[in-house]
Amino acid sequence: MKTIAVLTSGGDSPGMNAAIRAVVRVAGAQGVRVLGVEHGYDGLIDGRYRPLSHELPGWGPGATSALAPAPEVDLIGNLGGTILGSVRSMRFMKQEGREEAVRRMKEAKIDGLVVIGGNGSLTGAHELAKQTDLPIMGIPASIDNDIGCTATAIGVDTALNTIVDACDRISDTARAHRRGFVIEVMGRHCGYLAMAGAVAVAADAVLFREQDRSDEQLIAACEDVLRKGFAPERGKLRVLIVKSEGVGISTSRLVKELCERIKDVQGVDVRGIVLGHLVRGGSPTFQDRMVAGRLGLAATLAVINRSTDEMVGWQSPVAGGTPTEDPQVSRFEIATVLEETKALLDGSSPVMRRRVKMLEAHQGVLAL
Ligand code: F6P
Repeated sequence: MKTIAVLTSGGDSPGMNAAIRAVVRVAGAQGVRVLGVEHGYDGLIDGRYRPLSHELPGWGPGATSALAPAPEVDLIGNLGGTILGSVRSMRFMKQEGREEAVRRMKEAKIDGLVVIGGNGSLTGAHELAKQTDLPIMGIPASIDNDIGCTATAIGVDTALNTIVDACDRISDTARAHRRGFVIEVMGRHCGYLAMAGAVAVAADAVLFREQDRSDEQLIAACEDVLRKGFAPERGKLRVLIVKSEGVGISTSRLVKELCERIKDVQGVDVRGIVLGHLVRGGSPTFQDRMVAGRLGLAATLAVINRSTDEMVGWQSPVAGGTPTEDPQVSRFEIATVLEETKALLDGSSPVMRRRVKMLEAHQGVLAL
């Protein structure tokens, strides 16, 4: 194997660049050149490649060449976003788009592909693997933490740290004015960021889609938390309610309803904030860089060894799957990952059931 390609796809996440760097370094050490594909699967269809390896003539054994990361790649590990750019490609969802991508890869003499991204990107990798004999490996990267067969995905830890920082700041100003705040965090259909963030910031309540409560139930639960929190005998200075974006009721409507309902509580009002894309940017944390490096290593070695249609997942050392050299990294068939992802999102996965149960048990403690 002489050349592999790497691409980032879907919503970017902090640590994607660290994963790209790992792929380039590991492949280079094996004498394999890396091409970066610009703008995800669209770039694969259009043949937009950028060399990420740098040839050093005479640096290898004897008078051969060695491959090192291109100078720009050495500097990207601490950068958020993705230097390769990312899209959610509509063209790649079609058979013709994928056929053109394979044709372009063969034309460019690409021998394998590493895909860094979330659910949609892994689905794309799975479909592509069905259409080609070129090895394709996936690396989970998404702030949402909604990918099956991996305890975390690249970007989750940084997103949570950003949420904690934002909630702490909001808490400061909320305390000064004796306010309630509804803080909405990203996560699409998955409540993980809201759940984990709420526990870390000692929020008073957490709202997430998986709990399946009607708008009225949600409003009533928040009203209750506000009334109890600001009751004179409790004397709280702030009430924080962390809400996942997947919850049906909009944050503005929820805040409006709450303001209306607690009008009688003297000197207290409620504000809302949607953290939105703020949570997706920023320099990756140590944890995300480390996970990116180790998943990048395993995926690159796997693709060089011609494994295909698999994703590397971050697991506790005993969790199963085909073990790699790294006790926390296992390889899983992407088909299995996609099934587990579906179960995570429809609530039938034991992982999600456990999360919801834990949070429900916590809910009372949060409100105290
Ligand atoms: O999947 C990552 C994510 O940030 C979700 O949390 C969010 O719902 C979505 O992407 C936002 O997508 P876009 O950047 O296209 O608005």
